[in-house]
Amino acid sequence: MDLGLAGKKAVVLGGSSGLGLGIATALAQEKADVLISSSTADKLAAGVAHIKAAAGAAARTQLCNLGDPASVAAFLAAVPACDVLVLNGGGPPPGSVQKVTEEVWLTQFRSMFLSLTQIANAHLPGMRAQKFGRIIMVISSGVVEPIANLGISNTLRAGLVGWAKTLAAEVAADGVTVNAIAPGRIRTPRLTAVDAARAKAQGIEVAAVEKASLASIPVGRFGSIEEFGAAGAFLASRQASYITGSILRVDGGMISSH
Ligand SMILES: NC(=O)c1ccc[n+]([C@@H]2O[C@H](COP(=O)([O-])OP(=O)(O)OC[C@H]3O[C@@H](n4cnc5c(N)ncnc54)[C@H](OP(=O)(O)O)[C@@H]3O)[C@@H](O)[C@H]2O)c1
Repeated sequence: MDLGLAGKKAVVLGGSSGLGLGIATALAQEKADVLISSSTADKLAAGVAHIKAAAGAAARTQLCNLGDPASVAAFLAAVPACDVLVLNGGGPPPGSVQKVTEEVWLTQFRSMFLSLTQIANAHLPGMRAQKFGRIIMVISSGVVEPIANLGISNTLRAGLVGWAKTLAAEVAADGVTVNAIAPGRIRTPRLTAVDAARAKAQGIEVAAVEKASLASIPVGRFGSIEEFGAAGAFLASRQASYITGSILRVDGGMISSH
């Protein structure tokens, strides 16, 4: 199926690793003109190499630290518009939600919510004027079923869904869709770090954490970034034009509620 993405300008935040890299690679395989962004040059170079190897395509890069307003402003000056915008970034520190300090809440609100909405707001006028745009957010299954030890993610991503649902209705008539993908457990560097933190908090082996986690996934394994990226490419496609304000789960059946 031709997803209609050839030549479309795609910007993937947090695109140098994991889920963002999975989406960026899938978009490059569809011949989109891909730019990946993140906060470290080394990871961006590794991301470009991954895309070259997997898609045979050259991706562009732009540094942006979502926690730094000056860096976001510089990013927007360099990348003022696109057709497909993937809102993604690093996950918050794990731990009891009771122990999150005011400083950490404010820092995480900036990088996980405010910067993402500011970048979207800057790119929206161009999308609306050309009557085509795709905004895709990477969230978490924690917005449906809160995940223990990840209270910051559960909280701020639920807020992001409220923002996205509101925005989706505001821009729908202009051909711009706004959707979210909720990963369950996709094998990435972040997943490995979260499992290690959980093992430490519980005083057990990482292998025991993984075993318990796998037992909760009907498919019986963690997902791959390729499987996740394919979902992103579909939401970016012209075929997904009637899907907006939705949350697509990519979780191997892990979340059992509606
Ligand atoms: N993997 C899963 O199964 C899963 C499940 C639920 C939710 N999530 C969420 O999905 C998101 C992506 O996770 P992942 O597993 O793909 O993690 P990952 O492999 O660690 O990738 C995170 C990406 O975000 C970038 N990033 C980190 N801090 C940043 C910052 N301050 N500014 C800009 N970019 C930044 C990283 O690059 P730099 O370090 O170079 O900046 C990297 O490209 C996270 O928010 C995570 O909480 C993942």
